Amino acid sequence: MDPSALIPQPDAIPVSWGWFQGLLLITFFLHMVTMNIMVGGAVIAWVNHLFKGPAPQPLSREIGKKMPFIIAFTVNFGVAPLLFLQVLYGQFLYTSSVLMATLWLSLVFLLIIAYYSSYTFILKYDSLRIGRILLPTLTVSIFLFIAFLFSNNLTMMQNPESWPRYFADQSGFLLNLGDPTLIPRYLHFMASALAIGGLSVALFYEFRRKRGDGEAQRWVQYGCSWFMWATLINFPLGFLFLGSLPDFTHDVSTLSGALFAFFLIGSVVSGWISVMHARVNRVFQATGWALATVFQMILVRDFTRTAYLRPYFSPGDLEVRPEYLPMILFLIIFAAGLALIAWMLKIAAQTGEVQS
Ligand code: HEM
Repeated sequence: MDPSALIPQPDAIPVSWGWFQGLLLITFFLHMVTMNIMVGGAVIAWVNHLFKGPAPQPLSREIGKKMPFIIAFTVNFGVAPLLFLQVLYGQFLYTSSVLMATLWLSLVFLLIIAYYSSYTFILKYDSLRIGRILLPTLTVSIFLFIAFLFSNNLTMMQNPESWPRYFADQSGFLLNLGDPTLIPRYLHFMASALAIGGLSVALFYEFRRKRGDGEAQRWVQYGCSWFMWATLINFPLGFLFLGSLPDFTHDVSTLSGALFAFFLIGSVVSGWISVMHARVNRVFQATGWALATVFQMILVRDFTRTAYLRPYFSPGDLEVRPEYLPMILFLIIFAAGLALIAWMLKIAAQTGEVQS
């Protein structure tokens, strides 16, 4: 069967596609950073209890206090790229979501359970015993599963060749396990979450150290070690992922392939520099370079999607029916929303809700 016959007709867009593409990249970057802090932080809090037992652990408690905030940011910073992705690639994303609809819809319920378990962990921390291990186990398992669902959906959406499987299985449980890129891609994302999670621990305690907390230095080192080791593991994982990608994704004779190569090399270099800074606990420099690495990786990931979809579609093909007001209103509300979040964080920090 010709898979292109399964691609629905896209809708017209109100402004040029470049606007949506830029906003997709920016908001997805915010989602990736918060998701990494969330998943990595949860794993670190969990591992800390797993190896040291149910006795209270200051680091796990500290991470637990922040977790409900971080989940909220991850989810909200996920909504915006979801909207832009639907505007640009809705005909692909809707179809792949239908193929795995049962699993995809379960995501909402799983997220609610993860939210509850993270709240219970911190609100009942003092009275919990074995729950200090079990609740983070539940939260972490759900996060890892949700991330796996995302990797499945996003690889399936760019592979219309895999869609005809739907005619043999309409249960809504279709995954993309036959795709050789899936597992390396997923592991690459998760290792990056451990790294950034560790770095966020280091950054948090670096601020505390600067404010005179004598205990903070050991957690700065601890967070930096997570960052370094996870990033070092991520180099071979990244090459495994690269090796699993079809040649056309990094064919430098195409524009997307050349940009892929350029930003891939850039991200390897900035990743290495960030590890060098983390090695000597230079947390701010390590954070700057690590964020540059994440952003470049996001660009590389986008060029990969462009290459996969080239036989079928390019966002430039979308019909534009000019209507500027909704976009202008969106940009104003988006900027106001970000300013409001910054103000909220400042107030929360001042009143000690975030800090203590
Ligand atoms: C809270 C648990 C979540 C985790 C662990 C998570 C993790 C991930 C991961 C790992 C990816 C990259 C997958 C890949 O490319 O292979 C991803 C992409 C994405 N996530 Fe999340 N996510 C979460 C929640 C959400 C929510 C609630 C939304 C939306 C409401 C969302 C929106 C998105 C979007 C739109 C993308 C893809 C963007 C693109 O392809 O350009 N995420 N997420």
